[in-house]
Amino acid sequence: MADDPDTITVDPDVYARDPQIPDDWISETFSIGSSVYRGLMENGRRYQTLSNKGYIIPSDEQMFDSYEAGHLVALVLDSDRANPLFQSPIGDNPKHVLDLGTGKGTWAIDVADLFPEATIRGVDLFPPPVTWTPPNCLLEVDNALEEWTWREQFDLVHMRIMIGSFDPKEWDQVYTRVYENLRPGGWIEQLEACPSIECDDNSLPEDSILRSWGPNMLACGEAAGRKCDTLDTMSSAIRDIGFVEVHDKSYKWPIGTWPRDQKYKEAGSLNFQHWMDGMEGWCMWLLTKHGSPKPWTKNEVIVYVAKIRAELKNPSYHIYQRARRVWARKPYHSEVMKTPDSMPDWERTPEPDI
Ligand SMILES: C[S@@+](CC[C@H](N)C(=O)[O-])C[C@H]1O[C@@H](n2cnc3c(N)ncnc32)[C@H](O)[C@@H]1O
Repeated sequence: MADDPDTITVDPDVYARDPQIPDDWISETFSIGSSVYRGLMENGRRYQTLSNKGYIIPSDEQMFDSYEAGHLVALVLDSDRANPLFQSPIGDNPKHVLDLGTGKGTWAIDVADLFPEATIRGVDLFPPPVTWTPPNCLLEVDNALEEWTWREQFDLVHMRIMIGSFDPKEWDQVYTRVYENLRPGGWIEQLEACPSIECDDNSLPEDSILRSWGPNMLACGEAAGRKCDTLDTMSSAIRDIGFVEVHDKSYKWPIGTWPRDQKYKEAGSLNFQHWMDGMEGWCMWLLTKHGSPKPWTKNEVIVYVAKIRAELKNPSYHIYQRARRVWARKPYHSEVMKTPDSMPDWERTPEPDI
């Protein structure tokens, strides 16, 4: 019987080696480092230096590998759509698209390939590590919290996995800037994943260290003034700025190859790599600065990460993280602004069942 597309069913054969999964799927990816970009080295990781305030996640090769895997997870989970890159209905002939916090620039490059007539900008605090982009893709180094100097009005402004980038006031500032820089009728779209690890069938033991990971990260984020609950707050924050037609789609991003359904298995395999490459970078800054009960040492973080990685490799843990995509429209001039209470119920896609 075919799996319900919204249900992640456990693959009973995952415990016998799946011949379709390469032997090295559980090994970490080590990439060749580049010395082209300077940054601030701290605890063995490279951080951006453009913003004095600092960004909690490093900008280095290991992190870029993680971004690449995260990008593929998002694409696989929307692979039933003709365009898995975004859901905003901007038509076939957009002119200007902006990707805020573009990271490695992969999303911007893919969108540029999809719309060769459009200009796609990607902007980040750290230079995206790419040597070639399509001619209609411009990757720039800038701080989204500084004045925006682009002249064009965008059809779409996109953000993905920006949790931890801003405090609540800064989020409002960013959403307001997006609003001001969209053409009337233009769209904002944001995809976020929650750091917490979830499990619906109790296959993850109560005393698992994986269960401590999410609360630990959320507490550190809060202590750093960068609450990491963006997934749950972005929809209302976007609505409050004045966007209308706020759509909301929830996902479960499996971690590991435990699902039976081929799409979820592939997404889980990629997300496993996303986590293996990303985990140390996600927590090193937060724990060494805001760890509890006092800031952790680099070695304490390394030991913690090793334990988490060991648990992640256990295929009998049917684990996932929640993710959510929100997309919303800037009203046209002619539109009568509606109060939130009188707004229609726009499409809301609930979390799939596991
Ligand atoms: C977790 S990464 C996600 C990268 C990319 N969006 C993706 O999904 O692969 C967040 C990115 O946002 C960038 N960023 C954080 N704060 C920023 C700011 N104020 N201005 C521009 N970029 C920023 C970081 O440098 C980082 O590359």
